[in-house]
Amino acid sequence: MKILGIESSCDETAAAVVENGRRILSSEVASQVEIHARYGGVVPEVASRQHLLAIVPVIRQAMTKALTDWKDIDAVAVTNGPGLAGSLLVGVSAAKAVAMARGIRLIAVNHLEAHIYANWLGEAEPVFPLLCLIVSGGHTDLVLMRGHGDYTLLGRTLDDAAGEAFDKASRILGLGYPGGPAIDRAALSGEPVINLPRALLPGTHNFSFSGVKTAVYRMVEEGKIDNVNDAAASFRQAVVSVLVDKTIDAAVECGARQILLSGGVAANRLLREQLRQQSPVPVLIPEPSLCTDNAAMTAACGYFHAIAGRFSCPDMDVIPGLRLF
Ligand code: KG4
Ligand code: ZN
Repeated sequence: MKILGIESSCDETAAAVVENGRRILSSEVASQVEIHARYGGVVPEVASRQHLLAIVPVIRQAMTKALTDWKDIDAVAVTNGPGLAGSLLVGVSAAKAVAMARGIRLIAVNHLEAHIYANWLGEAEPVFPLLCLIVSGGHTDLVLMRGHGDYTLLGRTLDDAAGEAFDKASRILGLGYPGGPAIDRAALSGEPVINLPRALLPGTHNFSFSGVKTAVYRMVEEGKIDNVNDAAASFRQAVVSVLVDKTIDAAVECGARQILLSGGVAANRLLREQLRQQSPVPVLIPEPSLCTDNAAMTAACGYFHAIAGRFSCPDMDVIPGLRLF
C-alpha cells in the first residue's frame, strides 16, 4: 500500500510517499526557518502564506521523486491537528483536493501520533509495550503504548515544553532561532560547568523546564555568564539529564520492552547519546531528519489507520487543539 503524506501543522511544508508504513519512497520538506528567524519565532500569518506557495510544488516533487504514478497511490494521509489553524488548513485542503480529484481515500492524522510513528521508518520494528517520549516545540509527553492506537499518558510538562525551553534559552543567550540546533551547536565548544536547577518532581512522571530557563535568564541579567558556549552546554545537560532519568524510570516501572524517542528535540545529539547509553532496554530513535516535522511520519501513521479501516469523510476539518490522550 502506497500512501501520500502531507504535513503543514507549523512552519514546514512537507509531502512524502511511504510504502506499507515503513519504506520511504520520497520525503520532501520546504522549510520556512530562514523567514521566521528574522522574527525570532514562527509568525502564524506568514507561515500559512508560505504553505500556500509551497504546497503544490512540494507534493509534485514528492510524487516525482517516488517514481510513482497517481494510480498507484492508495490513500492520502494529512495532519489535521494539533497545530496552527491557518497552516493546517493549507495541508488539509490540498489533501482533500487530491483525494477528490484522484478518487482516493483520505486519512486524518494526529501530528503527535505521527511523531511516534517516525520510529516505524527505521530498520528495527518497534515491539510493544513501548514507552514513548515525545519531545517537540509544543509537547513533552511520556506515553505508554500497548499496541497501535493504544496510548496511556503517564506524564507531561507542567509548563514549558522541552523544545520551547531550548528556543527561549537560546534567545536569552543570543544564540538565535531555532534554539535547539543553535544550543546543540554552541554546546559542542563548551563544557557543562554551570550547575543549573533540575526539576525531577519525584513520585510523578511530569516535567518542568521553566525553572532552568529562568535560572539562565537571571545569570544573563546579573552578568554572570562569561562563556556562552559553557552556558549552552550546561543548559543542554540539565534538560537532557531530566529527560533521560525520567524516561528510564517510567520505562522500568511500566515494564516497557523498548523506549521510542520522537519529536524535534529527539534530534539533540546529547539526548540521543545519553538515552542510548543509560537505558536498560533498547532505544529506538528516528534519523534526525525524521525527528523534526516531515510527512513520511504522517504517511507511516496513516498506513496503520488504513489497515485498521480508519478513513476520514470529505468534511473532515482541522482541529488546532487536537489531543491524542
Ligand atoms: O517536532 P518539531 O519539529 O515541531 C513541533 O511539532 O513542535 O519540533 C521543533 C522543536 C523546536 O523547539 C526546536 O528548537 C527543537 O524541536 N529542536 C531541537 C533540536 N532540533 C530541533 N532541540 C534540541 N536539540 C536539537 N538538535
Ligand atoms: Zn512536530
